[in-house]
Amino acid sequence: MTLPFSQTIRVELGSRSYDVKVGTNLLSGVGAEAKLLFPNLKKVVVVTDSNVGPIYSKEVLGSFSGTGISCELITVPAGEASKAMSRAQEVCSGFTRVGLDRKSLVIALGGGVIGDLAGYCAAIYQRGIPYLQIPTTVLSQVDSSVGGKTGVNLPEAKNMVGCFHQPSLVIADVGTLTSLPDKEWSEGFAEIIKHAAIRDADMFDEIQKVANREGDIGALIARNIAIKARIVEADEHETTGLRALLNFGHTLGHAIENAAGYGRLLHGEAISLGLVAAARLSAQLSGLNAESVTRITSLLKLFHLPTELPDDLSEEEILSAMRHDKKFEAGRIRFVLLRAAGDAFVSDAVTLDHLSQAVRGLRNS
Ligand code: NAD
Ligand code: GLY
Repeated sequence: MTLPFSQTIRVELGSRSYDVKVGTNLLSGVGAEAKLLFPNLKKVVVVTDSNVGPIYSKEVLGSFSGTGISCELITVPAGEASKAMSRAQEVCSGFTRVGLDRKSLVIALGGGVIGDLAGYCAAIYQRGIPYLQIPTTVLSQVDSSVGGKTGVNLPEAKNMVGCFHQPSLVIADVGTLTSLPDKEWSEGFAEIIKHAAIRDADMFDEIQKVANREGDIGALIARNIAIKARIVEADEHETTGLRALLNFGHTLGHAIENAAGYGRLLHGEAISLGLVAAARLSAQLSGLNAESVTRITSLLKLFHLPTELPDDLSEEEILSAMRHDKKFEAGRIRFVLLRAAGDAFVSDAVTLDHLSQAVRGLRNS
């Protein structure tokens, strides 16, 4: 990986605007950044998980020494199961024990699970307190840390409870990606390939270079954050249809993730299958050329992401999980398709029959 790298991307949202700092060796500066943003800050809680905490919390906590700000750590078990109401309640109780108030700050240090959970706790604690995101996975750096979607899962379906709460700052230290296990590194590329598919077809070549260990990961991460930032700026609360384009591959991907049960497939692995199905549906319904379908599928394979459904996952379970999707309205689904690589739109032409065929098609890729 080419290091070092440094870039700041501004997310312009009026009074909720914030910077995303992308670079290396950023963790030792977290305390100073927090003080700059909140000069009267007295109390901070860092929420992390049992994998990330032992590697990075010392540096983050240490960055507050000498600032006059007290900094406590809350560690939750690593994994999707921590995105639960019961865990959110525990974390909020932890905030109370430490004495956080509305002038305090929460820091989410970890992947998308921690960002979603800690962001949600910050959103609901005392009706909302500020938080910083320090994303440590590819997925969380390019996607979940930017845009303010926070929340937890219900046993019935993913991300069913949550709210929009924008962070005050995002610090994406690409150096933290060096400790990611191979599988977690790869799964983040499902979202990067998604961004290329919906918005930036030229990026396919850059992704290929990084896969071949020739590209600049910092620059690629920053390019993806900029794509996400521009979409969030234009449609913060997903009301105009633009932000919905980020759901390309996610309708089926989430249904597959739910049907598999939390933890059996990584989020990015389920999204990979959703992307293949959505690309093929785009070829069938909206004119996407076969070459683009092949490009998307072969890039996913290059990152060892699945393009065929595991044998023990039934089509019925996937379709039943899909009926719980928030995008289902009056029996119709708003489904993101591509007209061409880089040109996505929301279609209402996709029926349950199409979806069922698409899921069957994933059996033989
Ligand atoms: P994750 O947070 O579970 O992290 C994956 C694994 O990597 C975990 O075991 C974690 O402990 C470990 N890990 C994280 N950083 C590490 C590091 N630097 N070194 C070593 N290990 C590390 O998963 P994720 O893939 O980052 O995020 C998935 C979650 O994000 C899902 O819950 C998904 O719904 C959510 N998500 C949210 C949004 C949003 O807009 N809010 C967008 C996309 C995904
Ligand atoms: N990950 C989809 C969104 O942020 O809207």
